[in-house]
Amino acid sequence: MRSRLLSRAHCYLFCLWALLASPVRPQHAGHNRRKDHGGGGGGGGGGEGAVDRPKLLLLSFDGFRWDYVDRVPTPNFRALKREGVKVKVVENAYITKTFPNHYSLVTGLYAETHGIVANEMFDPALNRSFSMETDSVYDPRWWEEAVPLWVTNQRAGGRSGAAMWPGSDVKIHGVYPTRYLPYNASVPFAARVAQLVRWFTAPDPEAVDFGVLYWEEPDESGHNLGPESSLMDVVIVDIDEKLGFLCNELKKAGLYERLNLIVTSDHGMTQLSADKIIELDQYVSRELYTWVDKSPVVALLPKDGRLEEVYSALLGVNPHLSVYKKEDIPEHLHYSHNARIMPLLLEAQEGWTIVQNRSGPMMLGNHGYSNTLPSMHPVFLARGPAFRQDYVKETMRSVDLYPLMCHILGLRPLPNNGSLARVQDLLSAGPSPSPPGGYGYAPAVGSVLGALMVLGFLLVFVRQVTLKQLRPLAVRSREMSQPLLQEDLHL
Ligand SMILES: *[C@@H]1O[C@H](CO)[C@@H](O)[C@H](O)[C@H]1NC(C)=O
Ligand SMILES: *[C@@H]1O[C@H](CO)[C@@H](O)[C@H](O)[C@H]1NC(C)=O
Ligand SMILES: *[C@@H]1O[C@H](CO)[C@@H](O)[C@H](O)[C@H]1NC(C)=O
Ligand SMILES: *[C@@H]1O[C@H](CO)[C@@H](O)[C@H](O)[C@H]1NC(C)=O
Ligand SMILES: [Zn+2]
Repeated sequence: MRSRLLSRAHCYLFCLWALLASPVRPQHAGHNRRKDHGGGGGGGGGGEGAVDRPKLLLLSFDGFRWDYVDRVPTPNFRALKREGVKVKVVENAYITKTFPNHYSLVTGLYAETHGIVANEMFDPALNRSFSMETDSVYDPRWWEEAVPLWVTNQRAGGRSGAAMWPGSDVKIHGVYPTRYLPYNASVPFAARVAQLVRWFTAPDPEAVDFGVLYWEEPDESGHNLGPESSLMDVVIVDIDEKLGFLCNELKKAGLYERLNLIVTSDHGMTQLSADKIIELDQYVSRELYTWVDKSPVVALLPKDGRLEEVYSALLGVNPHLSVYKKEDIPEHLHYSHNARIMPLLLEAQEGWTIVQNRSGPMMLGNHGYSNTLPSMHPVFLARGPAFRQDYVKETMRSVDLYPLMCHILGLRPLPNNGSLARVQDLLSAGPSPSPPGGYGYAPAVGSVLGALMVLGFLLVFVRQVTLKQLRPLAVRSREMSQPLLQEDLHL
């Protein structure tokens, strides 16, 4: 345990060093590597002069709330921000659940239009249920109200690679991603990254130009521990290290300077409380409805002719519960015009949980609440030749990402709910922006000397800070491994 902690302390130091030295290093790594690459693998027709197709990798860390980056040292997120762009407030799509939002990111559509309206749904026309936990996921009919970006990319002659993104192992409109991994939560992050790097660096006609990468954390820990738990700090540090690992692999492969990397998430997370429970059994019989989707935005399908009865039984029973008939769902949520949205929608206020009775296990964190709540918002950072550097933007909508990605890839976007104009300021000027460039010899020496001086000071400072953190980290790591907290507490 002790040695693990020491190595974490070393990691901070190393990351700091990387942070300070990076204005010089990427140029180095990218340039030399690319030459090696061209020299070694250039069988297929003198690649050096060929125009590079734009490359784009979209990464989602599930449930990475926007403000997680500020509660522990996250040197790799920080480096990304400095080398690229950050958006402070990203309004995601209602409901703030995993499947709807991941599909919004790659379609630019609200859930009511792309059709993946929840993680659990019922389609009256198909007379079928969908659950992200079952093989229903592989039925293309659920997905085909929209066309995801990987399909559009391929139809335009591009090649796509997908590692575990929701829907990316489904044959949508007759097409799988050019390269993809079938969903398997046990495949480690490093293996997903390695696969994507191989796809991006394959010899020319084989190489993918658009990739999607998904990782299950920190969502799972957020549910089990609650986002306000100090145990989450360790989880966030781990995600930061995973981001660092990815960047390092991209550098080693000579991709880092050529590839556009977008790091975001589907939603945030909020703390639940055992005192904030709404039990439907107290107000209405289970016989009168089918429970379709889970807390905190519960979809109910009343039995034939029982809508009014269920509605009036629930209306006004708890000030922390909103009860909507489908046609009364507020327009700004863009969540009513789809047959998969049920006749009754119950929305809990932030932190509240809706159950039938209290017998089930409780989670300590959840998401799904209104997308107007800051706690539901995801992180957003991006870097690469298409993006400005060291630029912070106040706000965007997650549906705006789709037209932005189409622009980067040179694709014509399908009709969508986003706007390129709203996010155009994230892009660097000019059609083919040069990599962070033109360092002469002298500035390089200057920054190295400057960095060394700062580093000397920080070494002393960080040592103090890290030593202070050692004890709490040790305590947390031990608590992390308590079996109680390892239990899967998903409702
Ligand atoms: C819908 O499917 C169920 C079985 O899942 C069946 O009992 C029912 O009759 C079907 N309804 C219609 C209208 O086909
Ligand atoms: C999922 O991945 C793990 C780890 O790579 C592997 O051991 C397991 O066989 C895989 N499961 C399936 C169903 O492919
Ligand atoms: C709560 O619901 C479960 C089924 O979900 C049921 O088995 C149990 O009897 C219920 N408990 C009470 C106290 O109603
Ligand atoms: C979202 O975009 C789709 C496709 O253009 C359109 O049909 C739908 O009406 C849009 N939704 C909103 C709320 O504008
Ligand atoms: Zn979740």
